Amino acid sequence: MMKLSPTLYAGLIAISLCWSMPAMAQLPKTKIINTNARMRGTPDYAGMNTFVSNLLAKMTLEEKLGQLNLLTSDMDVTGPSIRASYKQDILAGRCGNIFNAYTPQYTRQLQELAMQTRLKIPLLFGFDVIHGHKTIFPIPLGEACSWDMALLEKSAHIAATEAAADGLHWTYSPMVDIARDPRWGRVSEGVGEDTWYGVQVAKAKVKGYQGTTLGANDAVLACVKHFALYGAVEAGRDYNTVDMSRRMMYQYYLPPYKAAVDAGVASVMTSFNEVDGIPATANKWLMTDLLRNEWGFKGFVVTDYTAINEMLNHGVGKNNYDVGGLALNAGVDMDMQGSVYISEGKKLLDDKKISLAQINTAVTRVLEAKYKLGLFSDPYKFSDSLRAQKEIMSTANLEAARNIAKHAIVLLKNEQQILPLKKSGTIAVVGPLADDQRDMIGSWSAAGDWHKAVSILDGIKAQAGNATVLYAKGANVLSDTVLIKKLNATGGNIVLDDRTPNALIAEAVATAQKADVVVLALGETCGMSGEAASRSNLDIPDNQRPLLEALLKTGKPLVLLLSNGHPLTLTWEDAHVPAILETWFLGTEAGHAIADVLFGAYNPSGKLTMSFPRVVGQIPVYYNHKNTGRPFNDANKYSSKYLDVANDPLYPFGYGLSYTKFDYSNLKVDAAQLVPGKSLNVSVTVTNSGNFDGEEVVQLYLRDLVGSVTRPVKELKGFRKLLLHKGESQTLHFTITPEDLKFYDKDMHWTSEPGDFTVFVGGNSRDVLSADFTLLEK
Ligand code: BGC
Repeated sequence: MMKLSPTLYAGLIAISLCWSMPAMAQLPKTKIINTNARMRGTPDYAGMNTFVSNLLAKMTLEEKLGQLNLLTSDMDVTGPSIRASYKQDILAGRCGNIFNAYTPQYTRQLQELAMQTRLKIPLLFGFDVIHGHKTIFPIPLGEACSWDMALLEKSAHIAATEAAADGLHWTYSPMVDIARDPRWGRVSEGVGEDTWYGVQVAKAKVKGYQGTTLGANDAVLACVKHFALYGAVEAGRDYNTVDMSRRMMYQYYLPPYKAAVDAGVASVMTSFNEVDGIPATANKWLMTDLLRNEWGFKGFVVTDYTAINEMLNHGVGKNNYDVGGLALNAGVDMDMQGSVYISEGKKLLDDKKISLAQINTAVTRVLEAKYKLGLFSDPYKFSDSLRAQKEIMSTANLEAARNIAKHAIVLLKNEQQILPLKKSGTIAVVGPLADDQRDMIGSWSAAGDWHKAVSILDGIKAQAGNATVLYAKGANVLSDTVLIKKLNATGGNIVLDDRTPNALIAEAVATAQKADVVVLALGETCGMSGEAASRSNLDIPDNQRPLLEALLKTGKPLVLLLSNGHPLTLTWEDAHVPAILETWFLGTEAGHAIADVLFGAYNPSGKLTMSFPRVVGQIPVYYNHKNTGRPFNDANKYSSKYLDVANDPLYPFGYGLSYTKFDYSNLKVDAAQLVPGKSLNVSVTVTNSGNFDGEEVVQLYLRDLVGSVTRPVKELKGFRKLLLHKGESQTLHFTITPEDLKFYDKDMHWTSEPGDFTVFVGGNSRDVLSADFTLLEK
């Protein structure tokens, strides 16, 4: 099935509104009073069970199946709209949930249709609010590099507030798929490679979206995805097969989803991939035994886009009847865009392939979510135009976006202290991504309006002070016309300069020659990451390299600004360019945030949450690998290594520099032995020995030296982000308890085993101090 890029959203909303408005105008207006299903007052969870079971008792089978049906509005996004009659379906009670419809006006019009149905059950409006709704924050992989849980929660809260003000009830976020393969396009949507860190992000995001009470004006339902293991697709190719051991699942891939469940996430989305040979959407072990029985999940499960239908391609059923039965029996409550439950549900029930009790359970879960949101009290509570005008893209939200964006920037290299730049002399701003707004908001910036994004050039100009700013494009972002066509057809805005590459370079070199410093903005265009956007080559696009080489030859100091959604292979750049800043796709305020860092108003503090390989051939390369029986030893031919490249990544997990320098000393464990039931204190002194105030992310890793199963060489178990003024020292304390030493042992019990451990502390996963301790027998 054809898949369209999510970046189409922005364009399609306008089209969709044009299409839908006239049709809506012909519909009779209903007064929203006296509905069977509505109740008055604020949501009262205590009365929920009675309310929902009374309602359920009145519902026909078709109405019930309607509540399990989720259809896209006209704005088909990640697949073609396969059911054009969604408005008739709403009117007929065959569709209880809509996605890809927002704005108070549009959602009100659709809700009015639902209010004309027999039971007047309100619609639930879902949408991919992935890194902001209208105010766009950095792509999730970039935002994760802030290592600041308060900021991550805050961006989710702002996104929820804007989404709710724009008519929405439900976001398809957070995505917490652990990924060790940077070729996968969707690494941009996730948290990176580390499980423990993913757990922290999952908790922060669910809290940010859902707040403390569903039903509050600034809360929406969160949806953790893609359950499960989607980040482990073979070869990094999207939608591909996943195959992994139970141990690997439990130890590394499942914990972030579980953390979201523990944090009370309202919904879970199935993944497209198979899990242990069975597509996730048909996997009863996953959806019922694990999710419900082991983890106690109480919300509802929705499929990914047409994931039920796609099980025909997976080859686990002959027709929709088969695969619909598999999904319902697995415990999947809602069908996204596949219309399988609605078409097959009755026959499945008549044939006793499923039971009425199963359907009732699924419907109950959906009705409960609507109840908790307060939709039965007021189906229009999220469709208030005045509120939308006031709350969306407010000054405060934009300020928060700028603040979060600057925290996401990672300084990869800064030789000769080229950065920060002076606000004097002449600055040449060059590169295909310099005067560019579209790319700044990245992929999955669904409702974001890129015309409102601040380009790098504009951001620099706004803060350049007395400096003269010159500009030259220097190169097109890509030269592959076939790829350009594809990307532009799915939301891209690649505008080609039709001068020859040499003419563009000549202009850039002439511009650089007039300047004291060159700021060069290279990287990917936003469609090169995200869904269905995997790459087999992670270099900066080939056609950009000659520009970089020509500018380096001018001998001018050069700062390379990178915009990208995957970790890139930067071996050549690292060897030749004196200063490199990883800026991801930073969102609406990108240009301002980048200028804050370039000119030193903010000293960068971001740290990578995914390793940057030296070459694609090293993939997967991640910090918490196993030691193997023949660990790397340069002197020994028969050790685990390559002939042509080192084992370690170019930039490791946790890596990121600052304009200042942090020294680590005095790592101490307060006792050589950890007694079960007790804790150890680990202390370390961090000194800012450079010339700037700055923030540092102090990371703590552990290694279990001998286990009943093999253990990784390092595992992140804690971090602290702190501000140190220049010259300042601080001694930090971490507590280690036996809980931190737990893992799945040889019998798959979650336990700690007595023995020797090493604790490491440092500013990244590679450069660390270490100390040892022993966990005693119980
Ligand atoms: C994606 C999901 C997304 C859904 C709805 C799918 O193609 O995999 O992440 O939430 O579309 O747009």
